[in-house]
Parts: sequence; C-alpha cells; structure tokens
Amino acid sequence: MPIILKSDDEIAIMRQAGSIVAQTLQKLVEAVEPGVVEKDLDKLVRKEFERHKVVPTFLGYHGYPATVCISINEEIVHGIPGDRVIEDGDVVSIDLGCTYKGFVADSAVTIICGNGQPQAQELVDVTRGSLEAGIGQARAGNRLGAISHAIQDYVESRGYGVVREYVGHGVGRQMHEEPQVPNFGPADRGPVLKKGMVLALEPMVTAGDWHTLQLEDHWTVVTADGSLSAHFEHTIAITDGDPQVLTVP
Ligand code: MF3
Ligand code: CO
Repeated sequence: MPIILKSDDEIAIMRQAGSIVAQTLQKLVEAVEPGVVEKDLDKLVRKEFERHKVVPTFLGYHGYPATVCISINEEIVHGIPGDRVIEDGDVVSIDLGCTYKGFVADSAVTIICGNGQPQAQELVDVTRGSLEAGIGQARAGNRLGAISHAIQDYVESRGYGVVREYVGHGVGRQMHEEPQVPNFGPADRGPVLKKGMVLALEPMVTAGDWHTLQLEDHWTVVTADGSLSAHFEHTIAITDGDPQVLTVP
C-alpha cells in the first residue's frame, strides 16, 4: 500500500474528528480520580460520541471490545477497560479514536491519578516531551526517520526506554495506513515527508527496559520487566510549513 496524501478538505474533516477526540480525552482526564472504574470511562466515551454523532473507531477493530484503551502502570497500550478500580498514584494512559465523515483521528494522553510519585511524573513529562520533539521534525522535505530519531534521542538521553514492538502510523480513511512511524532509528531512513501526509505519532516510553509482553486477553501490552510506562499520541498533518496538530480541542 502506498502512502495516501490528503487534500486540504480532507484534512479539515480530520481536524474536526481530532477536535472531538481531544474534547473527549479532556473529559476522560477530568473524570479520572481514585475509585473510578475503567468501564465508566468507556461509558463516558459512548455517550460523548453519540452526542457528537461520530463512530468509535476502536470498537470492533480486529475484535477489540471497547471504545477506548486504558493502560495502567506497567501496561503500555491496548488495555481493555474492565472492572479495575483506578487508584491514587496510578499512571493512566488513555488512547482514543473516532471516525467522522469517513476519516479517523487518533490520540492518547497519560496522566497520574491523584498524588503520583515524582519518578512517575518525570516519565510522563519525558514521554510528552518526546512527542513534541517528534512533531518538531514533522516537516516536508525531512525523512520520516528524522521524527523517529528525534523521539529516540529525547527519550534515551534522559535515561528512559522506547518501545520497539509497537509504532506510530499513517492515518486517514483507515486507522492504520502506510507508513509505519517507528519511535527509534536513524534520521536518514524512510520516505521523504510531503504536504498532505497525515501521521499518528505515538511514543511509548518505559522507566526500565523497553521489551514488551502481551497478556492472556490478547490485547493488553505490558513491560516485560514490570516497569512503569507512558504513552502520548497526536494525529498531525504535514504542511508546507509547521506541522498541523489535528487532535486538539
Ligand atoms: N492508538 C492505537 C493504535 O494506533 C489504538 C488502536 S487499538 C484498538 O494502534 F483498540 F483499536 F485496537
Ligand atoms: Co495510533
């Protein structure tokens, strides 16, 4: 599959999808407090997406059973919201996507519930910073590897690990399009970025080793060493100038 370039009109639709994802993520973040059950966050998404008349992209994707991924502490990504109660100090990653007029927007944030350990806060800050570093390289004329390299350098120079087995991706009419966007690797690799490319950049960062395991539920991805993990994601469009972040309110 080639990389599918988007027109300005298509990017405008994705921007609307992105706004709904970002507004809903904000509501989820506000809802997280000690005692909240993961499933309640899934209910909140269903209600909000119904109100906005958008489709929950994750629900049914390869059989995924929920509208949102909630990944806590050593869970990296793809945690299924269930009966787990969120506790004070938990590192909570929330990943959300919607489809609007046939186009997908995909975004994730990590927050600490209540009072977190300073080490957890640093992990979250480094992960957010690495996404910003990647976005800073998302410019026409750069190679895709410039994004990957900037993220890896940002993370590893601060003593953290960057996950290899899961990567970012192109996004459009499908949630996952070409190209894959690794969060590691040399800067001079990959396709040259062009106006109209839309990418989901999503560094997954670990406080310890970056190796992962998948749980028995066939979805939840955890750190092999049990260390904490954080995840941030934005859907961005390559332009003639600065990258346009589509998943903002
Ligand atoms: N943001 C994730 C991704 O890009 C979410 C997809 S997981 C699933 O892969 F729930 F949709 F399966
Ligand atoms: Co994604």
